[in-house]
This record gives sequence, C-alpha cells and structure tokens, in this order.
Amino acid sequence: MADKTYSRSSVIAGWAVAILYFSHQQLTVFLARSDRFGPLREEYRGWHYLLGSLVFATVAWRLWLWQRDGAVAPARGVTPALHNWGRWLALIAYCVILLAPFLGLFYAWADALTVHLGPFFSLPALIGRSRPVWMFTGYFHSGLGFMLMVLGVAGVLTVAWALLRHGRGLLAVLPPGFGPQIFAGLASTVYAFATFRSPAPGPRALAIFFGICALVWGLSWLIHHKRPVPLTMRPLGPVARVAAPVTALTLLGLGAYGPHALFKVTPWPMGETAAGPAGVTSHLVRADNPAALAAMTPETPFERQVKAETYKWCRFCHTVAANGPHLVGPNLHLIFGQRAGTVPNFTYSTAVADAGRKGLVWDDDRIAWFIADPQKHLPGTAMIVSSGPIPDPKVQRAIVNILRRETMDEAAH
Ligand code: HEC
Repeated sequence: MADKTYSRSSVIAGWAVAILYFSHQQLTVFLARSDRFGPLREEYRGWHYLLGSLVFATVAWRLWLWQRDGAVAPARGVTPALHNWGRWLALIAYCVILLAPFLGLFYAWADALTVHLGPFFSLPALIGRSRPVWMFTGYFHSGLGFMLMVLGVAGVLTVAWALLRHGRGLLAVLPPGFGPQIFAGLASTVYAFATFRSPAPGPRALAIFFGICALVWGLSWLIHHKRPVPLTMRPLGPVARVAAPVTALTLLGLGAYGPHALFKVTPWPMGETAAGPAGVTSHLVRADNPAALAAMTPETPFERQVKAETYKWCRFCHTVAANGPHLVGPNLHLIFGQRAGTVPNFTYSTAVADAGRKGLVWDDDRIAWFIADPQKHLPGTAMIVSSGPIPDPKVQRAIVNILRRETMDEAAH
C-alpha cells in the first residue's frame, strides 16, 4: 500500500464539505419543521438550494482530488482493513451527495415550485408539474438522505469499535473531514427524530447521545492510554478488499427503503386508483348525509395550538381546497360524508379502498378513530401521521373540527 498521506487540498476540501454539509443539514431539519404556508418558507427553500449547490460543488472538487491523490496510507495505529472500509464509506457517501441536487431540482419543478438560489437568481424549470416525477424524485431525494444516514451510522459504529479496539478514533480512521461530518450528522439526526412533535425532547436526546459517545471515548482512554498502539499490521487481504464496497453498497439498499419504512411513501403509485374525470382531484359534490351537513364550530384557543403542533403535519400530505393537487395523501375537499377511498384519481392502498367498498364513510368519529392510529386501525394503509399516532381524544376532536372548517366551507375556497 502507498505510504502517501492526504494532500493539503484534500484535507481542506474534506473539511469544507463537512462544514457545508452540516449547515445544509441544519437548514433541512429546520425547513421540514417550518410553517408550510408561512412567509419565510420561500426564503428557507432558497437557502436550501443555494447551500445544496455549494455542497455539490465542494464534493465534486473533493472527488476530483480523491482520484488525483490515488492510494493513501492508513494513519498511525489504523489497520489497513479499517482504513480501506473508512475510505469506501466516504467515497460512496460523497457519490450519494452528488446525486441529491438533481433529484431535488426535479422534485421542485414537478411540484411547480421555483428554484431560486438564495436571494440571487432563479433557475428556469426544465419540466412542468408532474405527479409521477414528483413521487419518484421525492422518494429518492429523501432516500438519499436515508442512505447517508445509514452510512453515517455505520461509520460512527466503526469508529466506536476502533476506539475500543485500537484506541484510534474519528479523525484517524476516516478520511479528513468525513469523521466530523458523519458524527455531527448523526447528532442532528438524533435531534431531528426526537423533535418530530415538539422541540422539548431534543436536548435530552442529544445529552444521551453525547453521553454514550463520551463513555466510549472514556473507556477507550482507560484501555489504551498506557499501552502503545501496535504498529505492525497485516496487509489488506482480498476478502476485506471486496467486502468493504459490497457492504457499503448493501447499506445503500437499506437506506433506499427508509422513506417507505418510515413514511409509507412509494416511488410510484401503488394500489387502486379511484375513478374520476381526467384532471379532477377532489370530491366536487357535497355528500348528502348528516356527516356532511353537521355545523361548524368557531375555533378555540386549544384548536389553534393543535393546528400549529399536530394538524400542520396533515397539511404536509393533504391539500384541502377544491381540486387542489394530491400530495402524498389525497386532496380532502368535502371529505366528510364521503365513502373512504373515492377521491377521484388518487391511488389508494387496497386497505382503504376495501374499507370504502365495505361501507366506511368518513364522519367525525371515523376520522378520529383513523388518525388515532392509522396503521393499527386500517392495517396496510399508506397513511402515517408523521408526528406519531394521536391517542388523545381531545386532540383528535380538535383535528376533526379544524378539518371540517378547512374542507367543508366551500365559501372559503
Ligand atoms: C405522511 C403523509 C400523511 C400525513 C402526515 C397524513 N396523511 Fe392522511 N392520508 C395519507 C395517505 C397516503 C392517504 C391514503 C391512504 C391509503 O391509501 O391507504 C391518506 C388518507 C387520509 C384520509 C382518507 C381519505 C379518503 O379519501 O379515504 C383522511 C380522512 C386523512 N388521510 C386525514 C388525515 C389527517 C386528519 C391527518 C393529520 C392528522 C393526516 N391525514 C395526515 C397521507 C398522510
């Protein structure tokens, strides 16, 4: 193996990627939680594209340096097998990052959104609105994020093992900048998962994460601070040479499954498409039954709070105005009193289509029952409430009231 170390430019590029990637990730976590209809949403989106472009350019530079540097020797005290594995993880992660902006661009264009690079200029759209392209690119744009997460977890676990076994950690085992990049990335992911519903559990989750890291680091110090790190090591065998890329690519497959595992979304429509005239995406005729005709109640302060904390997730997946586009879920205009699984031109899971055929009609109680735990009450449904099941009847009732106001008031649209 070569005894060359990383070139100075590679070190700079690796750290630049880490810093930009981290900033972009913070913005993304924030963007996903920002008010979808708030005035600042467009600003955040612009910065998301701008930072994404900078990450792209820096990673392209890093990869160019990668091939220019060629083989690089392991750092002191790192076995060739570990070094090789760390390099494959980084190389594949960089390639994954390189793909993300393309999917992101088409995802935005397919949703008829303008792509503007921060406050500077807008890119002309290469395609018009398209639901199939939107589904596919949306799935895999988020899939790439999951792939990076899985690679990051693998990297951090590898480093934990290397710390305990060899006393060598984040900076020695992985290429320059990549260790801090995945470590900070994992910390952000821990925070993001802990704060789907509200920011409160975030600091505690981070404290536990950093506590575990400190424990591993402390143990490693106890084990290794007296013993010198062994310097003679076996060269890289053929098995390790092949196993590293194959394992890393397998992890990508796991990541690609992430959006479905977590949000039940699919890259293309799967299930049964409800009949309807072309171009129609909502119930246009009010049902003629008590569920549709019940009166609306004025908004209470509690409902205002539920709207900001829980109902906002409904609106990430559902539009409510007449003929609004289907998103991940169907348009819900005039949904009260309608048979389940019948909004025109939406592709439903067999579970919901079947429930409709068997007579499920959406009224207050049925909607409350469904959102209480969609996966449990209609097993096989494609709906998942991003913030988690809603067991509290008071919250369910508040959501039903808000939904009625937003979907049944034809004068409002
Ligand atoms: C992550 C996306 C997502 C979120 C969040 C979400 N839904 Fe859904 N919703 C769906 C999908 C997808 C379907 C279609 C389900 C199927 O085909 O199995 C659906 C179906 C429905 C239906 C039945 C529509 C019909 O025509 O039968 C109702 C009612 C509904 N959602 C209400 C809600 C409410 C209220 C919330 C918020 C508490 C919510 N949804 C949150 C994705 C979502």
